[in-house]
Amino acid sequence: MKVNIFGLGYVGCVSAACLAESGHQVTGIDIDPSKVAMINEGCCPIVEPGLGELVERTVAARRLQASISPPERADVSVICVGTPSCENGSLDLSHIDHVTAQIGAYLGRLDSYHVVNVRSTVLPGTVEKRLIPLLEAHSGKKAGVDFGLCMNPEFMREGSSVEDFFTPSFTLIGELDPASGDIVAALYQHIQAPLHRTKIRVAEMHKYVCNSFHALKVCFSNEIGNICKTVGIDSHEVMRLVCMDTKLNISPSYMKPGFAFGGSCLPKDLRALTYKARQLDLDTPLLNSIMESNRNQIDVAYKLIARTEKKRIGVVGLSFKPGTDDLRDSPVVELIERLLGKGYQVKVYDEEVFWARLFGSNKRYIESVIPHISTLMDRSLECVIEKSEIVLIAKSYRSPEPSLEKLLRSKPVIDLVRIGSPTSPNGHYQGICW
Ligand SMILES: NC(=O)c1ccc[n+]([C@@H]2O[C@H](COP(=O)([O-])OP(=O)(O)OC[C@H]3O[C@@H](n4cnc5c(N)ncnc54)[C@H](O)[C@@H]3O)[C@@H](O)[C@H]2O)c1
Repeated sequence: MKVNIFGLGYVGCVSAACLAESGHQVTGIDIDPSKVAMINEGCCPIVEPGLGELVERTVAARRLQASISPPERADVSVICVGTPSCENGSLDLSHIDHVTAQIGAYLGRLDSYHVVNVRSTVLPGTVEKRLIPLLEAHSGKKAGVDFGLCMNPEFMREGSSVEDFFTPSFTLIGELDPASGDIVAALYQHIQAPLHRTKIRVAEMHKYVCNSFHALKVCFSNEIGNICKTVGIDSHEVMRLVCMDTKLNISPSYMKPGFAFGGSCLPKDLRALTYKARQLDLDTPLLNSIMESNRNQIDVAYKLIARTEKKRIGVVGLSFKPGTDDLRDSPVVELIERLLGKGYQVKVYDEEVFWARLFGSNKRYIESVIPHISTLMDRSLECVIEKSEIVLIAKSYRSPEPSLEKLLRSKPVIDLVRIGSPTSPNGHYQGICW
C-alpha cells in the first residue's frame, strides 16, 4: 500500500521505517525540513536501537522517502503528530488539529478511497467529535462514505520500539466502519500478532487505560518496595512471586468494573499494611488511597439510587461475592445502612445469607452485628421485587436464579455486578459504571 505518515517524531519514524520494511511504499511528512532531509539521506532523526539501519535500508530500497507535503496519491494517511500536555494538564490538540485540516484538504483533492488512521494518543471522543468534523469541513467529503477513518493506538516503548512494532501483544484497530478497518488491518498483515477490531472510542480509551495502569503498577511496586526494604525483605523476590500468580494477580481477576470490594480479607489486610507503613514512617499515598476509592464507589451507588427519587429499594445480594454468606466488611451492608439512615425502605433477598441466618456459620455475626439488616430479609425473591420501586442487583450468582431475569424486566434495575445487558430493551436498566 501507499502510506503517508504525518509527523516524524518517535512514533512516526518507527512506524514509517517498519511499514516500509514490511513492503509498503511510505512517505514520511513533517513540518521540520531538517527531519525530512535527514530521512532522505538515509539517516534517522531519533536514537532508537535498530532504527538507523532500517531507515538506511528502506530509503536505499526506495520504499521510504520524506517530504514536507504528501504525494499525489496514497491509500492511507497515518497521524503521528505530538499531543503534549498543556500547563493545566489538558491535551494540546493544536498539532493534531492542524495536521487534520491539512489532511482534510488533501482528501478533497484525492479521487480515490482513502483512510485516515490516527496513531496519536487522544482522549475518547476526540476522533469522532473533533477530527471527523475537521476532515469533513476541509475535504467537502463524508466520513464513512467518501473516506474511511480508524483509531489505531501505538503500544511501543522508547528503547525497544522497533521490536515492539514487529512483535506487539496485539494490534488494536478502532474503526468507523468495516471498510476502514479492513484497509488498516492490511497494513499489519505481516505482523504475527492477534488483531482486535473495536469501536473508535474504545480504542481511544484503551490507550489511556494501558498507560494509567502501567503508571499505577510502577507506583504500587515502588511503595511495596519501600515497605519491604524497611523491614529487610527483598522486594524483587516478593514481586517476582506476585507476578508468578497468573490466576489471581496477573490475570483478568479483579479487573471488572463494578461495586466496591469487601469481605474478611482485602479491607483488613490493606488496613494492616498501611498501618504498618505509618509505623515505619513511610509515605504510601497510593496504598492509602485505595480504601478512599473503595468508599467512593459506595457513594457512586448511593447517588445512582438517590437520583431515581424512589424510596422503596429491593436489594438482591447481601454478601460480598457469590457462593458465600460472609457479611464481614460487606460494602452492600454499608450501602443499605446509608439508605436506611436516609429514610429509604429496604427489602433484601440473598438466599445464601438467609440460610446462614437460620443455621450457618455467620449466624452469630448476623444476629449480633447487623440484626437491623437481618430483619429486612425476605426469603422470596418475587416478594422483594414486588414490594420495591427499584431493584438493586448487588451480587451475581454462579447459577443465576431462573426467575430473576424475568422478574427484573418488571422493575427498574440498578446493577452493581453486570448481571444484565447494558442495552436492556426496557430502558430501565442502569449499570453502576457501564
Ligand atoms: N513516544 C512514544 O513512545 C509514544 C508511544 C505511543 C504513543 N505515542 C503518542 O504518539 C503521538 C506522537 O508522539 P511522538 O513522541 O512521536 O511525538 P514527537 O513530538 O516526537 O513528534 C511529533 C512530530 O510531529 C511533527 N509535526 C507537528 N505538526 C505537524 C504537521 N502539521 N505535519 C507534519 N508533521 C507535524 C513534529 O515536527 C514532530 O516531528 C503522541 O500523541 C504520543 O502521545 C507516543
